[in-house]
Amino acid sequence: MGRKFFVGGNFKMNGTIKTITEIVHNLSTAQLDPNTEVVIAPPSLYLLLAREHLAPHIEVAAQNVFDKPSGAFTGEISPQQLKDSNITWVVLGHSERRTILREEDEFVAAKTKAALDAGINVILCCGESLEEREKGVTVDVVTRQLQAVNKVIGKDGWKNVVIAYEPIWAIGTGKVATTEQAQEVHAAVRKWLADAVTPEVAEFTRIIYGGSVTEKNSPELAKQPDVDGFLVGGASLKPAFVEIINSNA
Ligand code: G3P
Repeated sequence: MGRKFFVGGNFKMNGTIKTITEIVHNLSTAQLDPNTEVVIAPPSLYLLLAREHLAPHIEVAAQNVFDKPSGAFTGEISPQQLKDSNITWVVLGHSERRTILREEDEFVAAKTKAALDAGINVILCCGESLEEREKGVTVDVVTRQLQAVNKVIGKDGWKNVVIAYEPIWAIGTGKVATTEQAQEVHAAVRKWLADAVTPEVAEFTRIIYGGSVTEKNSPELAKQPDVDGFLVGGASLKPAFVEIINSNA
């Protein structure tokens, strides 16, 4: 069986009750390709609002989670609380959290393990900076980020992980990776999965692309053999998100 195409919408710190209710309504009533899995990630304050109003064929993701089940951790949300609220996914390792919030590979790995242990699926982000790309160390950086997670989740953990390759230089810049650049890194990640985990994990793991995805560039990117979907930022807040979801139809 092939890998099911996967499109995530990462709203980041955007939206209000009004705009998120509108987006949720539009997505719930749109004709979406049934062969594509769709997940949206609103800010934590609006997770329940989204879940309540969203059609059941669309899942909801948190943009972060902590690695403990409960306790004195002011400002944090646990995987168990996500589960309790029917929030079935979480985005982890996003470059904005790695750089602005200084999250290290090991912390991302601990959170990934805690989420998976609680039954929450993970969209695990990885990606290189422009400087790292220019130095030719893209694959080293990405596989280092993934290896930290592999060390703690083992081969069984990957069943509930989607890998999002997001080159930092392409995020929110309008500078999308070329189809060749995306395919090259996705293929390298798949090869790494085959070598470092198992060929079976490499075969079933979805590797999605993020970074200035729009309805204009998504059809070409979707044709690449190792591009299994998208993690969309800015464009997920717009009506054209539906076209991106349907770009593999
Ligand atoms: O997680 C999605 C993301 O970082 C890409 O953002 O706005 O470039 O689509 P954007």
